[in-house]
Amino acid sequence: MCGIVGYVGKNQAKEIVLNGLTKLEYRGYDSAGLSLFDSKVNRFEVFKETGRVTELKKALEMTLESSVAIGHTRWATHGKVTRENAHPHVSRSGRFILVHNGVIENSDVLYQQYIPDYDLKSETDTEIIAHLIETFSKQFTVDNAIVTTLKLLEGSYALLVIDKETPDIIYAAKHKSPLLIGLSESGGTAIASDVLALAGYSDHYVPLTDHSFVVCEKDKARFFNFELENIKPDIYEVSSDILNSDKGLFDHYMLKEIEEQPSVIRQIIQTYEVNGVIEVDDVIVSDMKKSDRIYIIAAGTSMHAGMLGKRYLERLAGIPAEVHIASEFAYHLPLLSSKPYFILITQSGETADLRASLKAIEHLKRPVLTITNVKTSTLAREATYFLDVKAGPEIAVASTKAYVAQASVLLILAYALSNKSYPVKEVLSKLANNMEVFLANQSMDSIAKDFLDKRHAFFIGRGINYDLALEAALKLKEISYIQTEGFAAGELKHGTIALIEEGTPVFALISDAHMNHQTRSNLKEVDARGAKTCVITLRSLSKETDDVILEDVDPLVAPLLLVLPTQLLSYYAALQRGFDIDKPRNLAKSVTVE
Ligand code: AGP
Repeated sequence: MCGIVGYVGKNQAKEIVLNGLTKLEYRGYDSAGLSLFDSKVNRFEVFKETGRVTELKKALEMTLESSVAIGHTRWATHGKVTRENAHPHVSRSGRFILVHNGVIENSDVLYQQYIPDYDLKSETDTEIIAHLIETFSKQFTVDNAIVTTLKLLEGSYALLVIDKETPDIIYAAKHKSPLLIGLSESGGTAIASDVLALAGYSDHYVPLTDHSFVVCEKDKARFFNFELENIKPDIYEVSSDILNSDKGLFDHYMLKEIEEQPSVIRQIIQTYEVNGVIEVDDVIVSDMKKSDRIYIIAAGTSMHAGMLGKRYLERLAGIPAEVHIASEFAYHLPLLSSKPYFILITQSGETADLRASLKAIEHLKRPVLTITNVKTSTLAREATYFLDVKAGPEIAVASTKAYVAQASVLLILAYALSNKSYPVKEVLSKLANNMEVFLANQSMDSIAKDFLDKRHAFFIGRGINYDLALEAALKLKEISYIQTEGFAAGELKHGTIALIEEGTPVFALISDAHMNHQTRSNLKEVDARGAKTCVITLRSLSKETDDVILEDVDPLVAPLLLVLPTQLLSYYAALQRGFDIDKPRNLAKSVTVE
């Protein structure tokens, strides 16, 4: 999960690469580096700094513009956060310079086999690649030296390589880690891990498939496989919503994306409505109807959306469904039914744990549906089908609008599989409206200040609100670093209640009439032990003393409304602590390593 950007073309490569790296910092931001061709001295210069891209920009202030540059912003996997481990890495003679996103699993083996006598300059797996290319360049042309190296690599990589002997070319290669080639009618070829970094410099782009090798020049790009046979790429237009993915009037992407949720719901209704009727592609639905059990596989927030999806599929369509953590499923397949149907849920469409899960089931030749926010992503392309959640680019590492969008699409899918008696369009429209009502009058800043003064906290709920409690807890801990547990309200008394002490914040999520009384009893149990309790509920279930009351919506989508105060709680808790909200420590937006 690093970000890489390259550009060859007009004399603005430095600016394009630095701007692109800034947009990709959400993928990793512990160090950054860039190499550019300095025509004044006719050589490539390499600059590396620990910290954010802004540190790198300072180091580059005095350098001239260039027509060729490659850059990298790192999320450390192999080797500590140091300048030596930052990319770009350079081959022994300095001829080859490269940046890499991914993990080379056999780097030690290749080192011992090919360059055992060489003292590496870094602790990274990446440096090995540069030395291998140089080793093979003594007997092959540069493109053959590169593909010969690629065929030896095991693991994942998106690579940009510069050969000083051909300074107006960038070689690009992709296997498992995302990489896109940006093309422009006015000239210039850009390369990046995410289309966001191409916006403004490319009119069209090619999301590379695995085993792609590309020779990028200022006025063209040539696409090959690893046998150096030409391949014909799929070309997409850089859409307007990608061009508009800026913070606008908001201080943080996370707040912008929380506020966007009502319009995301409406966008989804519009997307899936055909002649006034909500529907899903018949082929997807009929294939699903032939299955006897649905396996939902996801990670993090997407898995929490999958938990809601399980309830929707079982409640509306009567199809049994189960939810699995992707990193577990990939290596411990459950006992599968005779006609399984698999659903992968992933905002980025690039999560390595899901790709590993997909690989683990491909031999079954059963249908796989990817529900994602990036229609050109690897997991959208590699599945049998995909459904777009239409949330627009989600930049903040903490996922908010994608969660609501994924669950909404799962509700629509469950509806499409049902007898159609559920008023799905009205339910989602009312949800969007009541989201707006809450967002216009919320005071979660003061609640965060009042309640979140401890190092730990709990969200509790029953049934569908237990699913929500898990998501609320993840959001709070990942950006405020408060140790938070999402807990089944009825389960607390079986041990964990021992953690409750004076002032422990406990947030109760209540949106289901038939569990209202029980959850409130569980809240009394913690209150009696000194907890500071906060009730988040719907108006029809509320009491005078409740803290956050939201206008009623259908119970199935209530978690998608109650999630808003919990998202804002996390936002304000992090803001009050002065933490980086959009780029929390240790995290990355797209986890492309296992
Ligand atoms: C969510 O706030 C987290 N950043 C993380 O749990 C995320 O949901 C998870 O890594 C899955 O990502 P994906 O949806 O892109 O597969």
